[in-house]
Amino acid sequence: MKKVGVAILGLGVVGGGTYKILTEKRDFYKKNHGVDIIVESVLELRKERALALGIDEQKIASNIAEVCSNPEVDIVVEVMGGVDPAKKYVLAALNAGKSVVTSNKELFCKYSHELEKAAKKNNCGLFFEASCVGGVPVIRSLLDNLQGNKITSLLGIINGTTNYILTKMSDGGASYGDVLKEAQSLGYAEANPTADVEGYDAAYKLSILSSLAFHTKIPFEKIYREGITAIDSLDISYGKRLGYTLKLIALGKNTENGIEVRVHPAFIKNSHPLASVNDSYNAVFITGDCVEDVMLYGRGAGALPTGSAIVGDIIYCATHDNFNYSAFKNTPNADPDTKFVSNFKSAYYIRLVARDKAGVLSKVSAVLGKNSISLSQVIQENAEEENGGVPLVLVSHETSEKHILKAVEEINAIDKFAKVQSVIRVVT
Ligand code: HSE
Repeated sequence: MKKVGVAILGLGVVGGGTYKILTEKRDFYKKNHGVDIIVESVLELRKERALALGIDEQKIASNIAEVCSNPEVDIVVEVMGGVDPAKKYVLAALNAGKSVVTSNKELFCKYSHELEKAAKKNNCGLFFEASCVGGVPVIRSLLDNLQGNKITSLLGIINGTTNYILTKMSDGGASYGDVLKEAQSLGYAEANPTADVEGYDAAYKLSILSSLAFHTKIPFEKIYREGITAIDSLDISYGKRLGYTLKLIALGKNTENGIEVRVHPAFIKNSHPLASVNDSYNAVFITGDCVEDVMLYGRGAGALPTGSAIVGDIIYCATHDNFNYSAFKNTPNADPDTKFVSNFKSAYYIRLVARDKAGVLSKVSAVLGKNSISLSQVIQENAEEENGGVPLVLVSHETSEKHILKAVEEINAIDKFAKVQSVIRVVT
């Protein structure tokens, strides 16, 4: 039986999960795939972690050179995260003729062109299913199964931490700060949650997914990014009354006007299947010209779900002799003829506080009309005046972002009591 040796770089949550799957299911893979996959080496500075997992002391490498020169290692699994030293290690492995399986979205988003060049030169495989949306098999769906389509859009909830926070804020009306603390104590959010809550994590993933979907490199810098730190639970509850759920969305569109890529909070109609993706679950909703709508749903993080994606790649690598690479020119930038849309269109939710006085509402309407903004929904509260004003919640039909920004500026200038409190895009 063919033997395939694996090295794991990093024994954190995902590395530990991968080790557990590979060792516990070794016989299952032997029986079903005809390969004996053996963990031959691990690189983990915290030796006690490796020992606690039951790994033989002689399999614990002390540096990357030891892993790369080990003739028993065929596939190197990089689950360390971050760019440095992961990039150096992955390039060293490829240049030593080892195929690589990585879960590292930041590394793959920023440097896939360099990694792929090294993989091609050394005739090695480079696999990255685990880099996006954990256990949800979206990469191979885009790489293989959906290739017959022109993909016109992908809309995803691709960050579990923020989805957990927004779900809890929506369920209990708690504040962002309180739910973040809870998410940290449960181990969902990192001690430094910036990458998740500011949308970087989702933007790295969107760069990878939209490059595959739209057949050109979509650099991270082209992605409009806004996180969830400014979200007020009051807006989530007004949204609910209007029939919407608030999510951190990752959106990629390929239209006649160009490519649009953005990560930001948005209201989604409750009737949309993504509105019911709750807690730390993820999903990607893809639209292609032949297949129409496809939705992939599941766990976007965690030891075993992400380990599942990694082991899937290991088995694929172990059972294929020839490797495929990107079906597009994998360069640092998009193809020169790629157009990007900056002034995109959307529907908008606007909450403002206005003086409960004759004439204020008509002035707000006049500003909206002047900027070609028409409304689909309105809530005007008979509530007690708060800071001299009453809340007014508006939802517009689709309009351009530029028009909305101009209207907000003009509403804020009506008088000192008419102030826009929040503007949130609405996915229609
Ligand atoms: N921090 C990520 C998330 C984990 O919350 O989705 C997987 O990339």
